[in-house]
Amino acid sequence: MNFKAPKGKLGVLIPGLGAVSTTLIAGVDAIINGQSAPIGSLTQMGTIRLGKRTENRSPKIKEFAHLAELKDLVFGAWDIFQDDAFRAASKAQVLSPQDLEQARVALEKVKPMKAVFDQDYVKNLDGPHKKAAENKMALAEMLMDDIKSFRKTNKTTREVMIWCASTEIYIEASDVHSSLEKFEQGLVNNDSRIAPSMIYAYAALKSGVPFFNGAPNLTVDIPAIIELAKQTGLPVAGKDFKTGQTLIKTILAPGLKSRMLGVEGWFSTNILGNRDGEVLDDPSSFKTKEVSKKGALDYILQPDMYPELYKDLYHKVRINYYPPRGDAKEGWDNIDIFGWMGYKMQIKVDFLCRDSILAAPIVLDLVLFADLALRHEMKGIQEWLSFYFKSPMVPTELYPEHDIFIQLTKLKNTLRWMMGEELITHLGNEYYDG
Ligand SMILES: NC(=O)c1ccc[n+]([C@@H]2O[C@H](COP(=O)([O-])OP(=O)(O)OC[C@H]3O[C@@H](n4cnc5c(N)ncnc54)[C@H](O)[C@@H]3O)[C@@H](O)[C@H]2O)c1
Repeated sequence: MNFKAPKGKLGVLIPGLGAVSTTLIAGVDAIINGQSAPIGSLTQMGTIRLGKRTENRSPKIKEFAHLAELKDLVFGAWDIFQDDAFRAASKAQVLSPQDLEQARVALEKVKPMKAVFDQDYVKNLDGPHKKAAENKMALAEMLMDDIKSFRKTNKTTREVMIWCASTEIYIEASDVHSSLEKFEQGLVNNDSRIAPSMIYAYAALKSGVPFFNGAPNLTVDIPAIIELAKQTGLPVAGKDFKTGQTLIKTILAPGLKSRMLGVEGWFSTNILGNRDGEVLDDPSSFKTKEVSKKGALDYILQPDMYPELYKDLYHKVRINYYPPRGDAKEGWDNIDIFGWMGYKMQIKVDFLCRDSILAAPIVLDLVLFADLALRHEMKGIQEWLSFYFKSPMVPTELYPEHDIFIQLTKLKNTLRWMMGEELITHLGNEYYDG
């Protein structure tokens, strides 16, 4: 494999300077300064077993895969509000005033550039810090100029872009998204079916920058952008960070299925009160999230293959905006299961979680893996990173893998393959001659 070591600064370009991205920046600063451990980050804390169990080789992933170091990350962002990352983080109220104060210098450095925004795509939000241009192609060019000047000012040797902005309304891929040529024509013609997130993705890929999508928006999940990623030889991935309730769902469901226990119903409801919750209070943004959240169970449980166990599964997902909770979301799951001779049982999960605390290490890992994929010249959809997404992108002919344990195996085997190590099958060598 054509592998370049991570030399110099890595630019982390983020549309959306809100709860998740500011929590990421503050956390990275705390880790660099030794004030915190990188808890929740596989790249920083995780190890990878190499060779046979008897060899006792389990280096840290970050060392094994030569990932960029945290001190080499430089952050840039766009937002429709002018607040720097310190003010945005203070408003998001995820971190304590003490933690914010410790990260003040790092946060104040990040001042958002003017956003590409269209309120038709995020109904419950508007702000003053936006770009204006005659058409969407001109907006994309303005973003490309932003990337160029960021690169020049910060002397970065490479950049990655990761969408941490609000969830856009639900749309389906249509003709304008079907090829790069039609998409570019649509940008010039101001086609209303091209979302702001797609304009960022287009600008990133045109600038040699991988694009990863942390929200459930369609964004890069369209033939036009995949075509551009292949043409430019760049990685893309998405969509929707797998935190909170879906994380728990993709941990529990594979376990129930592995023991061939039936599931009759799975009711999931949430209350949350942050800006993300406010945006999701609009039915068209909620629909995007709902579709993203609902896919996991069907793919994990495979009702077509196990009809006696899962064909009648009733799956319902609710999200309720409830301001008093802020970022401290509460997610309830009621799971109706059945066992031997059809006897019914119930599982109740009440997860008092913190959305951005769960999301920040995912963003960090994705940034570092996007850079790794870039340096390994891995183009198109990065399916090996499905581990991090609620609704993993896959080529059209394949179905997504949602089982978190299979996802982790796939991720680690991809790293072994990239670094020229033997893949691990978990088959004991007492059974074969290998
Ligand atoms: N926190 C989680 O656990 C989690 C999990 C999965 C997905 N997500 C997604 O991540 C995204 C960020 O979540 P958050 O809690 O930080 O939300 P947030 O509302 O705190 O931050 C989003 C920011 O994006 C800005 N924004 C909106 N449209 C923009 C545009 N076109 N260009 C630039 N900026 C724009 C908003 O002004 C806001 O500051 C959301 O889409 C959310 O659904 C979050």
